[in-house]
Amino acid sequence: MANQLCIVLDFGGQYNQLIARRVRECGVYCEIKRFDTPLEEIKALDPMGVIFTGGPNSVYDEASPHIAKEYFDLGIPTLGICYGCQLMAYTLGGTVESCTKSEYGKIEIEQNGGKLFKDVPEKSIVWMSHTDFVSKLPEGFSGKAHSEDCPIAAFECPERKLYAVQFHPEVTHSQFGKEILHNFLYEVCGFNGDWKMDDFIETTVAKLREQIGDKKVILGLSGGVDSSVAAGLLSRAVGKQLTCVFVDQGLMRKDEGNFVEETFTKLFDMNFVRVNCQEKFLAALKGVKDPEQKRKIIGTEFYNVFWDKIREQGADGFFAQGTIYPDRIESGKGNKAGQGSTAVIKTHHNMVKMPDDIKFDGVIEPLGDLFKDEVRAVGEKLGIPHDLVWRQPFPGPGLGVRIIGEITEEKIKVLQEADAVFRDEIRKSGIESELRQFFAVLPDVRTVGVMGDHRTYDHLIAIRAVTTDDFMTADWARIPYDVLARVSNRLCNEVEHVNRVVYDITSKPPGTVEWE
Ligand code: XMP
Repeated sequence: MANQLCIVLDFGGQYNQLIARRVRECGVYCEIKRFDTPLEEIKALDPMGVIFTGGPNSVYDEASPHIAKEYFDLGIPTLGICYGCQLMAYTLGGTVESCTKSEYGKIEIEQNGGKLFKDVPEKSIVWMSHTDFVSKLPEGFSGKAHSEDCPIAAFECPERKLYAVQFHPEVTHSQFGKEILHNFLYEVCGFNGDWKMDDFIETTVAKLREQIGDKKVILGLSGGVDSSVAAGLLSRAVGKQLTCVFVDQGLMRKDEGNFVEETFTKLFDMNFVRVNCQEKFLAALKGVKDPEQKRKIIGTEFYNVFWDKIREQGADGFFAQGTIYPDRIESGKGNKAGQGSTAVIKTHHNMVKMPDDIKFDGVIEPLGDLFKDEVRAVGEKLGIPHDLVWRQPFPGPGLGVRIIGEITEEKIKVLQEADAVFRDEIRKSGIESELRQFFAVLPDVRTVGVMGDHRTYDHLIAIRAVTTDDFMTADWARIPYDVLARVSNRLCNEVEHVNRVVYDITSKPPGTVEWE
């Protein structure tokens, strides 16, 4: 049985995926659709609720994304957020105006009842980010909240099941945002909360079994969260019919290749093929210093090694990959970049193009509908080790982007050792969960040092640790000095050829997370 569906209609706001994730956290299955999805299509999908997202435009701008007035005749319970709120008012005959000053940040609102505000205090803090506001409501609507500068911060027409909020309930800065979304989904739309990860595993495994039958499946396993969880699901569904191909280019972190192999061969029923090819990669990278060229070489080598292995195995049955929902949205497959859409902001790295001569019966993407946190939840339930499920983002080219200048076997070894020490100290210090990503970098720099009676001329290690919500922006982490001191001591004492340590205190922007 299909899950009950909520649609998030994308008007180009930056929090659109966040809205969808919040809805799913409430136990409701949700998909993001473009704002110009034909009404017929929306009707056919039979959503029990629709949420209009925010967006950067003004409703009076002709080029801004609009919605046909007839939409509101479909009778679908709808919640408008920010731009979506203004659009609802404007389309139904209300008036939208520009504020004399934009309202941005944490603002106190006062509400006066209605289903959206069930169990929400009269006064609470919400997150606002807007220049326009609704100054006159359409007929039949009533205002349900206001702030000092915004006379209508929320409104409703319960008879038509139309609701709107000028603020962003999806961001955590809105104190009771979660309750407001929950109220919309359960009090207004009447969802029954049938989106649960346990059910997802069960139904997906059943679907995979049916789709695959007695055929084979090949999955490219990178050791990242997504492909690992996809492997876990497929293994549960079809066991030894699954072959995972794991290319170890020798640019992974210390002992990582062995960890991945052990995990999947010991814990799961499948065929596991590991291709060790560090030498091949090193030969192709010899003498190359330019970061883009290094990336290209690593990408091309990977592509060749991987697909050659597939040719060797035989393209028999299905090809599986760990594509997740945001990959589909960002790549334009699920939500093509359009007017006002955020779809093209982030380039992603997870799609693999299949060579023309390789022909499988089809491609399987068992995680294609999940967000990252849902993938992790599934991974935990499947018994995949914590370290893999909570693995930090790790660039496709691996340590290749963390070794500046030419990549050599000696440098890989130094960096692997240094990175392992840094990670070990962070883990011991108990601050790991505060950091979103942390790693060591090997810049192409040697400096003078002194060790005993000798002068040394050896490698400098840079350490990087960031906090971030989405990796679009990031701040350098304020690691306590005593932790930094221990890291520095251990790096110089334990890692051969390291005689100096620096800590990167650059935010993004202007820096990036990786050094390249
Ligand atoms: P930057 O350096 O652009 O990195 O600030 C942002 C995030 O993306 C990760 N990153 C990559 N991830 N393939 C990936 O899958 C790549 O080629 C790649 N390059 C950067 C980086 O580690 C950080 O989390």
